[in-house]
Amino acid sequence: MRIRPTAAHVDVEALRHNLGVARALASRGTGAAPAVLAAVKGDAYGHGAVRCARALEAAGVDWFGVALVEEGAQLRDAGVKTPVLCLGGVGRFGAEEVVRRGMVPVLYDEGDAERLDTAARSAGVRQRVHLKVDTGMGRLGVALPHWGRFLDRLASFGHLEVEGFMTHFATADAPPDSTGFAFTLEQGRRYAEALRKLRHHGYAPRLLHTCNSGALVQHAALHLDMVRPGILLYGAAPCAGCPPLKPVLKVVTQVLVARDLPARASVSYNRSFTTSRPSRIATLPVGYADGYPRSLGNVAQVLIGGRRCPVVGVVCMDLCMVDVTDVPLPVEAGDEAVLLGCQGDQCVTVEEIAAWAGTIPYEILCGFSERVPRVGA
Ligand SMILES: Cc1ncc(COP(=O)(O)O)c(C=O)c1O
Repeated sequence: MRIRPTAAHVDVEALRHNLGVARALASRGTGAAPAVLAAVKGDAYGHGAVRCARALEAAGVDWFGVALVEEGAQLRDAGVKTPVLCLGGVGRFGAEEVVRRGMVPVLYDEGDAERLDTAARSAGVRQRVHLKVDTGMGRLGVALPHWGRFLDRLASFGHLEVEGFMTHFATADAPPDSTGFAFTLEQGRRYAEALRKLRHHGYAPRLLHTCNSGALVQHAALHLDMVRPGILLYGAAPCAGCPPLKPVLKVVTQVLVARDLPARASVSYNRSFTTSRPSRIATLPVGYADGYPRSLGNVAQVLIGGRRCPVVGVVCMDLCMVDVTDVPLPVEAGDEAVLLGCQGDQCVTVEEIAAWAGTIPYEILCGFSERVPRVGA
C-alpha cells in the first residue's frame, strides 16, 4: 500500500514521442537511417530502467546503453531482448556475466579483452565488442598514442569479434561558433584517423557511432551507423535548435499541512527566510532525501492551486516549505503540489529546476531517490 502522496509519474507516450524525434533527427545525416541506441543507464536517467526499456523496445528501439553490467542484467531479468551495450566495459569481474547474458561490452582495455576472450572461449562462443577510442573526453577509451599497440594485441584474442567502433564527445552541446563546437569537429577528425588505423589492421566494424543527444541535434555529419541519445529521450533539450520534446517525468505531492504565520516569523533551519507579511505557509512532505536538492531553498517554485509559489527557507531532509499566501483559494492539507511538470497552464521544467539548483537537468532527473515511487503505464 502506498501511504505517502509523493510520486514520480513516467509518461511512456512522451518517451516514445521523443524516440520519434531522435529517429527523425538521425535520418537527417548522410546515408541510411542510423540505428538508435537509447541510453537507459542510471535507471533510465531516474525514470525507471525496466519501464522505459519495455516502452522503447515496443517502439522498436535498436539498442540499449547501460553503464554497468548489473544494469544490463536487470534488463535481461525483466525479459528485455533488445541488444544491450555496456558502456562502462566489463571491468575485472563482469566478463562471464556479459557473455552469459548475451550483452555487448565496450572495450578499451587489454585486461578486459583478455578476460572476455577467456570467458568467451570457455562458453564456446565469439563475443561481440565495440572498441572505444578516446578522442578528447579523457575518461574511457584507448588513448590515441596507444591505439596501434592496442590493435596489435587485440589480434591475439581469437574469440572476440569487433562489431562496433565508438568515441564520446566532450562538448557536443556547445553552440556553433564556440570553441566547444570546433572541438567536437576535431574529435570527429581524430575518430576518423583512428578508424583508418582500425581498418588498416583488417577490422571492418559494422556499427560506427559517436553521437550523444547534443551531437545528434548539431552534428549530422557524425551520425554514422548509430546514434546514442539519452537526455533528449527524457524530454530535456540538449542544446538550442532541438525540435520540441515532451517531458517524461512529473513529480507531484500533496500539502502535508498549511498554516498561517504572522509577519517576521522565520521558516526552516538557520532561519534563512522570514515572513515580511502575515503569510500562509504550506509544508510539503518532500526533501533532499527524495532528491529535491537542499540548494532549492529560497530559489525554487512549486505549482499549487495553479500558481507558482516560492519555496521558502532551506529544504530539509524530508520536508520543504512553500509560501502559498498569494494562491486565491486558501491552500489546505491534501492539495496537489507539482514540483516538476505542469498544473493547469503553468509548468515547472527540469531546466528551470537545474538552473535554480546550479546544476544540469541530468543530475536533477537522476537525483530523485528510490523513496519516490515511479508510477505510470
Ligand atoms: C558513451 C555515452 N553515449 C551516450 C550518452 C548519452 O548522452 P546524452 O544523455 O547527453 O544524450 C552517454 C551519457 O553520458 C554516454 O556516456
